[in-house]
Amino acid sequence: MQELIISQVDTINKLRQAIANLPRPLGLVPTMGYLHEGHLSLVQYAKKECAAVVVSIYVNPTQFGPKEDLDAYPRDLERDFSLLAGEGADLVWTPSNEEMYPDGYQTWIEVNETAYPLEGRMRPGHFRGVATIVAKLFNCVHPDVAYFGQKDAQQAAVIKRLVKDLNFPVKIAVCPIVREPDGLALSSRNVYLNPEERKAAVVLSKALFSARDAFTGGERNGNRLREIMAGIISEEPLARPQYVSCADPDTLEELESVSSDALLSMAVFIGNTRLIDNVILRV
Ligand code: PAF
Repeated sequence: MQELIISQVDTINKLRQAIANLPRPLGLVPTMGYLHEGHLSLVQYAKKECAAVVVSIYVNPTQFGPKEDLDAYPRDLERDFSLLAGEGADLVWTPSNEEMYPDGYQTWIEVNETAYPLEGRMRPGHFRGVATIVAKLFNCVHPDVAYFGQKDAQQAAVIKRLVKDLNFPVKIAVCPIVREPDGLALSSRNVYLNPEERKAAVVLSKALFSARDAFTGGERNGNRLREIMAGIISEEPLARPQYVSCADPDTLEELESVSSDALLSMAVFIGNTRLIDNVILRV
């Protein structure tokens, strides 16, 4: 069988030359590589809606905290290229650190209130790194639509805010979470789980789905929904929750009661692996 080949560029100059020859609308799928079905589903959405699709693969150092797993972050470019070729992506851009943050780099983008709670509180500086790199990716690619996963719900809210506040001419598409059959949300970090932890990790979706069931059954009290999630997580000995939240999906402010759409979300350590997950409640 003939091997599928994908066009790949590393420098911004080459990227711009390659993009000039691509048809519009142009979709961008920003990733940090080590692709799984969740990333590929973003490419599939982009392929449906756009005439051409660019995927960026860049493990952005500025969104990792000093104690986080930057060096250990899983990487496998060859595998990523062949998966993207299989999905029919048109171009992969793999910039280097030197190109994205050259000597003397000193410009940062901070989104305020939306980035403060939840992930922002647990991972200081994370969204400053995300907002800065996403703005740089947008400035280099000039996509018409950019695709992000609902799994990183706060990231999506921060990026929507960034796009609105800085008038980027790009539509943000937020695509549904892809889950394993037992409910675990796909994540590059799942590879860190040993078999016992992998079983335990299902507790995140179990807690979220139970709270969603309670909501469907009429529960509208924010505290009660948070208690339901916390209660289920506390039954799993390998789980250490960092937060459970029932918040407004745009502002991320905690809700006393749910009267319009809401975001149930959580960050939980399973062993040494920090997992996040969420569901949207639709009123
Ligand atoms: O979601 C991710 O993979 C990253 O945060 C992103 C958006 C590619 C920015 O580095």
